[in-house]
Amino acid sequence: MDSNHPLPTGGLAVVFGASGAIGGALVDRLRADPRFADVLAFSRQGDPAVDVTDEESIAAAAAAIQATGLTPRLVVVATGFLHGDGQQPEKTWRHLDAAALARSFAVNAIGPALVIKHVAPLLPRDGRSVFGVLSARAASMSENQIGGWYGYRASKAAVNQLVRSAAAELGRRSKESVCVALHPGHVESALSAPFGAGGNRSYAPDEAAANLLTVLDGLAPTDTGGFFDETGAAIGW
Ligand SMILES: NC(=O)c1ccc[n+]([C@@H]2O[C@H](COP(=O)([O-])OP(=O)(O)OC[C@H]3O[C@@H](n4cnc5c(N)ncnc54)[C@H](OP(=O)(O)O)[C@@H]3O)[C@@H](O)[C@H]2O)c1
Repeated sequence: MDSNHPLPTGGLAVVFGASGAIGGALVDRLRADPRFADVLAFSRQGDPAVDVTDEESIAAAAAAIQATGLTPRLVVVATGFLHGDGQQPEKTWRHLDAAALARSFAVNAIGPALVIKHVAPLLPRDGRSVFGVLSARAASMSENQIGGWYGYRASKAAVNQLVRSAAAELGRRSKESVCVALHPGHVESALSAPFGAGGNRSYAPDEAAANLLTVLDGLAPTDTGGFFDETGAAIGW
């Protein structure tokens, strides 16, 4: 991250996971951003209802993007799953469970992959475009000293690899594109609520959204395929 790389004005911003703390805050900020002619906010509660484990609903989202007639310039995938419906992050290998692992991968890795499949082809060939996927620092293998959280860590590491492949493919057709995985910092949300910040500072969702948009604005095409934290620093794989 070195300098600012402005997006062309008059385009479309798109957020998946708009019902979430970070996704919702991103939508609020993008709606107030004069660079965008419109913002599409997709969630399971919206119309079309978009569930990232349901490819048809992602295809419907892509059709809604095309129906605007606007050029998508910024896409952020802010969906994610850590706990819920009786599933908690694994503290030990004794907690490993095939169905729980499959659910983590379905939401955290395969879901964003299917969004890439249907939405990345809609990005413009000319001019800057940005595709960001919310990953997590927990995905970093080089920083994983304490273990645990097997499914979350592994599914987020998987999405990082998927983003990197997509960045290479997108870069061949759109020279000014940026496709990255992002860590938002510890953010107050339903996802993070049961867990502490581990000595790190905790951000309100609006602050986290502001940080992420600043990071994305600062990334150059040469940064594509990377994994960045909320300060714009690269995270080790
Ligand atoms: N908060 C943190 O400290 C933190 C730290 C590192 C990384 N992250 C990442 O940041 C992202 C956003 O998390 P958050 O903190 O904003 O959590 P959140 O408020 O719990 O939001 C999670 C979002 O994911 C959506 N979602 C879950 N499963 C889905 C599915 N199958 N289809 C469509 N949407 C689905 C939820 O939709 P519903 O409203 O329909 O459930 C919600 O919009 C996640 O990828 C998370 O891993 C967060």
